[in-house]
Amino acid sequence: MSANKLVQERTERTEWFRYDRFGMFIHWGLYAIPARGEWVRSTEQLTIEDYQPYFEQFNPDLYQPREWAKAAKAAGMRYAVLTAKHHDGFCLFDSKLTEYKSTNTPAGRDLVREFLEAFRAEGIKVGLYYSLIDWYHEDYPAYGDKAHPMRNNENFKRDPQTFDRYLDYMHGQIRELLTGYGKLDIMWFDFSYDEMCGEKWRATELMTMIRSLQPHIIIDNRLEGSGDLAGSIYTAEPSIYAGDFASPEQIIPPEGVTNNAGEPIPWEACITLNNNWGYSAADNCYKNATTIIRKLVECVSKNGNMLLNVGPDARGEIPQQSLDILAEVGSWMKRNGDSIYGCGKADYDKPEWGRFTQKGNKLYAHVFEQSIGPINLTGLEGKLKSARLLADGSEVFISRPWSAALFENNAFISLAKPEHFTFPLPDARNTVIELELE
Ligand code: GLC
Repeated sequence: MSANKLVQERTERTEWFRYDRFGMFIHWGLYAIPARGEWVRSTEQLTIEDYQPYFEQFNPDLYQPREWAKAAKAAGMRYAVLTAKHHDGFCLFDSKLTEYKSTNTPAGRDLVREFLEAFRAEGIKVGLYYSLIDWYHEDYPAYGDKAHPMRNNENFKRDPQTFDRYLDYMHGQIRELLTGYGKLDIMWFDFSYDEMCGEKWRATELMTMIRSLQPHIIIDNRLEGSGDLAGSIYTAEPSIYAGDFASPEQIIPPEGVTNNAGEPIPWEACITLNNNWGYSAADNCYKNATTIIRKLVECVSKNGNMLLNVGPDARGEIPQQSLDILAEVGSWMKRNGDSIYGCGKADYDKPEWGRFTQKGNKLYAHVFEQSIGPINLTGLEGKLKSARLLADGSEVFISRPWSAALFENNAFISLAKPEHFTFPLPDARNTVIELELE
């Protein structure tokens, strides 16, 4: 398939994704019991035997995915991605290819199936995260690998010839997810590294299968990349397995994301609410709602999405700190979502007091910082038809008070009268003014 055709199909497939802009990432599994993050097996070099008690104890008695879905919806999130299998190899779904799955724990449930049903019921698009890496499977490289828990244990030297057996398992599980769980909107792979990349995963064969089973599904770029590695999606000649969107991690790309021809490509920044993807009981370094609101605006102002993570605990509940932040973000989104959904990079440079997002002839001024006197809109003189406070629809005044007489190319807006006065921002987190352009 030609690069143009690949890009054209990618653009069509990601239309809803580039409109919805805001999603929930959910990292959940056995690692919620040690509660030290999802890499605990690797960071503490735990053997399968060390980790086995968590398998035998896993019983999330408070797991009610509909409650998760309601929290996501109230936050203004339009899609959600759950870990079906993380690097530890534990499957949250009833795979016929392994015994290492949630239905064989005291939970006795297909957690993925319940997640999909609950979020679809709330009208939220659904995706599954699937780890290419597998620290449980006996044919995945262990001794000498970059991150495997047994990377330093010579008893775990493995015959590279058996890696294909792992790939048959991996492709088989992905087929299970694509044929046994209804329509999926996103497949979120994680992650490639060193030579473990591209065709090492038999990626062409895998993508061909995925596209044949669920042609609409969108896929991230991590069959080639990772949070730091780009992959060919960043080029004008993407490979067949380049994916449909780039996935910068724990950072918002300073200039947004374009390919090497300067063309914008779909991208999504995945970000944790504290500093861990999986539940970490000791990590109370939560970002506040104002930060999340402003960073979501930053993503959209650069033509990107935000996938914001929650890490439910071992009993199946999202931490209260996360729920509180999501609820406050939702209260802002309820009144200001029009400045996010369907919006992207504006035709005007970033203003000093905040950011712009734009959707057609609607330019949204996200005012983070109070101005002295009227709010300056550089280069917008004569281009404004109307201005409204988005949150309540009230009039905002377009005028050039005496104090701004010198700045003829700029337009000025005031939240109240007299226009040269300084007024407090109605919403200190982010006051959005909807500007209708001529
Ligand atoms: C990194 C981490 C992984 C996490 C992912 C989310 O790849 O290794 O634990 O799931 O980021 O993007």
